[in-house]
Amino acid sequence: MTTRHLLDIDDLAPSELETILERAERYKRAQQQGEDHEDLSGQTLGMIFQKPSTRTRVSFETGMTQLGGHAVFLGADDIQLGRGEPLKDTARTLSRYVDAVMARVFKHENIEVLAEYSSVPIVNGLTDDAHPCQTLADLLTIREQQGGFEGVSAAWVGDGNNVAQSFAIGAALAGIDLTVSTPEGYEIDEEVINRVDDLGGNLTTTTDPVEAVADTDVVYTDVWTSMGQEDERDVRMDNFEGFQVNNDLIEHAPGASVMHCLPAHRGEEISDDIIESDRSIVFDQAENRLHAQKALLSWLLE
Ligand code: CP
Ligand code: NVA
Repeated sequence: MTTRHLLDIDDLAPSELETILERAERYKRAQQQGEDHEDLSGQTLGMIFQKPSTRTRVSFETGMTQLGGHAVFLGADDIQLGRGEPLKDTARTLSRYVDAVMARVFKHENIEVLAEYSSVPIVNGLTDDAHPCQTLADLLTIREQQGGFEGVSAAWVGDGNNVAQSFAIGAALAGIDLTVSTPEGYEIDEEVINRVDDLGGNLTTTTDPVEAVADTDVVYTDVWTSMGQEDERDVRMDNFEGFQVNNDLIEHAPGASVMHCLPAHRGEEISDDIIESDRSIVFDQAENRLHAQKALLSWLLE
């Protein structure tokens, strides 16, 4: 049997996405009602981190505990990877110990190398290009909040980064109409747009955030400077002017909920009052990382 990985969200077919979201809802209810759901008893997840994390680290570790399993934190500088041990050797070694590996790395090619050499499932916990686990939680949150995906529209405002790219593909998989607004030069990759097209997605791109959010159901943003881009911060602050999700922008989307994958930089991509407002569903999104990833892991490992 071939080993399944989640390197990006379109590694899942629409029906598989549906199965995982249903399972996530089931786990969420089970946890809320204190019901036993130890489906991964005795199983271990290795977690490689080349970049910092709050949500990804804690939700995966806690999720494994709740499923009756265990997670091992492997900071890149704490394992031999940080001293130059090749990724392919790391992948083959870890495969002999653990049942699955979640990895947060810089270059997307690196998660592909891990998958190529691993005999256990590899889960992308964020690369420079993609963040599929975030998308799973985003879709779970939108489905809960909007009562399904039928007729739902969403707008992305800001950088065409890893979170935006996986969300664009995920929206296509789920059947959400999406408008992505970015400053010129910060668009999502052409290759991602082609994948959205292949999935029959309804994606519009623009450089006008007002046009993007007009009458939409969901407005989603993320930081202007992602991890690893710190040197570009000053230039980005200038180039993203006008792309802040704030009251002025949200006036054009009177019924919209506001999403952010977190961590947020208040006063940059989002204003403090919007993130603290009733419109904000950012902490439901953060919570749903836990439920969605438990569902993903148990689906990958069954
Ligand atoms: N959204 C997200 O992945 O957060 P962390 O960087 O805290 O894991
Ligand atoms: N785009 C952000 C997401 C963090 C979860 C980053 O890569 O830093």
